[in-house]
Amino acid sequence: MWGICSRTVLGMVKPCALMKPCHLVKPVSAGRVAGRYLSHQKGLPGLPVPPLQQTCQRYITALEPIVEEDELKHTRKLLEEFQKPGGLGERLQRGLERRARRSENWLSDWWVQVAYLDYRMPVVVHSSPGLVLPHMDFTDKQGQIRFAAKLIAGVLDFKTMIDNETLPVEYLGGKPLCMNQYYEVLSSCRIPGLKRDSVVNHAKSSVPPKHITVVHNFQFFVLDVYHGDGSPLTADQLCVQLEKICKASPQASTQPVGILTTQHRDSWGKTYHSLTRDKTNQESVSLIQRSIFTLCLDSARPHTSQDSYRNAAAVQMLHGGGSSWNSGNRWFDKTLQFIVGEDGTCGANYEHAPAEGPPIVALIDHVVEYTRKPVTERGHTASLPTPQKLHFNVTADIQKDIEDAKSSMDTLAQDLDVKVMVFSHFGKNVPKSYKMSPDAFIQMALQLAFYRMHQRCCATYESASLRMFRRGRTDTIRSASNASAAFVKAFDDPTRQNTEKVDLLEKAVKAHRSYTNMAISGQAIDRHLLGLKLQAVDEKLSVPDVFTDAAYAQALHYRLSTSQVPSKTDCVMCFGPVVPNGYGVCYNPMSEHMNFAVSSFSSCEDTNTGELSRAMEQALVDMKTLLDQTPRAKL
Ligand code: COA
Repeated sequence: MWGICSRTVLGMVKPCALMKPCHLVKPVSAGRVAGRYLSHQKGLPGLPVPPLQQTCQRYITALEPIVEEDELKHTRKLLEEFQKPGGLGERLQRGLERRARRSENWLSDWWVQVAYLDYRMPVVVHSSPGLVLPHMDFTDKQGQIRFAAKLIAGVLDFKTMIDNETLPVEYLGGKPLCMNQYYEVLSSCRIPGLKRDSVVNHAKSSVPPKHITVVHNFQFFVLDVYHGDGSPLTADQLCVQLEKICKASPQASTQPVGILTTQHRDSWGKTYHSLTRDKTNQESVSLIQRSIFTLCLDSARPHTSQDSYRNAAAVQMLHGGGSSWNSGNRWFDKTLQFIVGEDGTCGANYEHAPAEGPPIVALIDHVVEYTRKPVTERGHTASLPTPQKLHFNVTADIQKDIEDAKSSMDTLAQDLDVKVMVFSHFGKNVPKSYKMSPDAFIQMALQLAFYRMHQRCCATYESASLRMFRRGRTDTIRSASNASAAFVKAFDDPTRQNTEKVDLLEKAVKAHRSYTNMAISGQAIDRHLLGLKLQAVDEKLSVPDVFTDAAYAQALHYRLSTSQVPSKTDCVMCFGPVVPNGYGVCYNPMSEHMNFAVSSFSSCEDTNTGELSRAMEQALVDMKTLLDQTPRAKL
């Protein structure tokens, strides 16, 4: 996949950017990471702090389609006060600029802390995305084991590129991207705390891990995946080892310790504290945390029709389907968990703190391609050591916590309605043929769908990559704009001409693309506003009124939380809504079709996953029909 002509998830891989392969294939060590990778990183620009006036002006414009006029007036006044020469805004701006001069990235540590580690809702559904891969070609235990063995070998093959720093640099809009996230996803794990969590990355330790953890029937095993000489086990050898694990855990355990990781973070923090007071438990947990990744060998899903297969697969990847199915067959704190079901269902779940979706998908694209190759290397299997089972001493208190976690997980699983919609009418080639950005076209269809259902526009979040900057993460593209509002309001209005509607669509798409360009170049408003607020906290000043204003709360109440995660494999990522009356929408636009995963909470009367999916499909079809029937639009 990473050949010179191959495409990355974000842009063309430039041949000149390939870091030359190292002559030795060795596991990672801290010293070697500090080589070519660091010199690439050093060449990247730092994240800029946008001008204060620019952000204030853009903030007001962004509020216009979602906030009432009298509230806007109030916010304008607050912003005038905030920007006054010599006022609080200027002081905070100076503080931020100082921080930017002194740090690698003024935002990223704050962001990881605030967006992830301080966030106390369960990581399951509320933060960790799932990834649904196409159904694989097996339907029994033997097939599951064989596929899983190849999958492990594929990840290790990708890991070699990380270890040797031979990963091709990715590009977006012709600019090289920060590759840091690739170094954060393996051998790392989130650790629950009483008030805030942390993340440890063992790849950077002087003795990097050589094992993965495998969970089967809710029981954890350590599987060494490298021989003493540093060479990886072959797929055949891994197959033999996985068979031993399955034989050693024929029945589901009544103590599914992994389900504890689905708890609210404060509860899990407390339980973790008591669980790890026991030495055996501490050692077992530490081995999971240190492992390169976790492989979940899931039991077969309950029978569903062909039609609902993808929805069930999304559920399995997102939360495991509840305590009586596979939710206990996970360690949700682990940064990367691959999931292989006995019935050919396959995918992953990842803990969001260390990375965004695109690097995870790039890794998975590589792995899927790897599993399709025939096995060539065999290797001796007779002398392989038996994988070590991890033991837990479960006290009555811990058992009670397990029961509580099962019950909360089941409530959450019952509440989340997630659907995968394969939109087969057309793919991203159609908007391209109309000289429109496919991403902007899809976002406008989503705006239209929501407007048709709710007769209003809502604050909409789309992730924009900040990886053009050193250690860049994301900013927000606010898809609800004045231009999108004008478009959706006109679309079903019979008094408007088609030519006018096309004109409004083109303007809305252009406005979205221009917001996207602004966001990826570090000039969007959301992270800057957050930075100003956190700077006030840092300087122990009172939080400025603009941040306690009702309009700010409204601006952050994202009823549509969306993200594009493209891939080579025909897959789709999925995540939960970020507010109780919201939707999570993730999509993968392929050339001739598009995959969507839509979620909402059944307990909310105002939302309906099926309805939004249908409305999306209709909006996309209607927009294309409008363009097809209005020749003027064809440039
Ligand atoms: N006419 C014709 N083609 C156009 C076009 C136009 N006006 N505008 C764009 N295109 C083409 C592009 O060249 C590109 O071509 P390709 O398929 O050959 O690569 C394609 O259409 C897609 O472009 P577009 O739809 O505009 O999106 P993008 O690839 O630029 O991505 C974002 C936009 C916002 C998704 C991207 O910038 C980003 O930030 N991604 C990160 C998302 C992320 O981190 N998610 C995290 C989730 S956990």
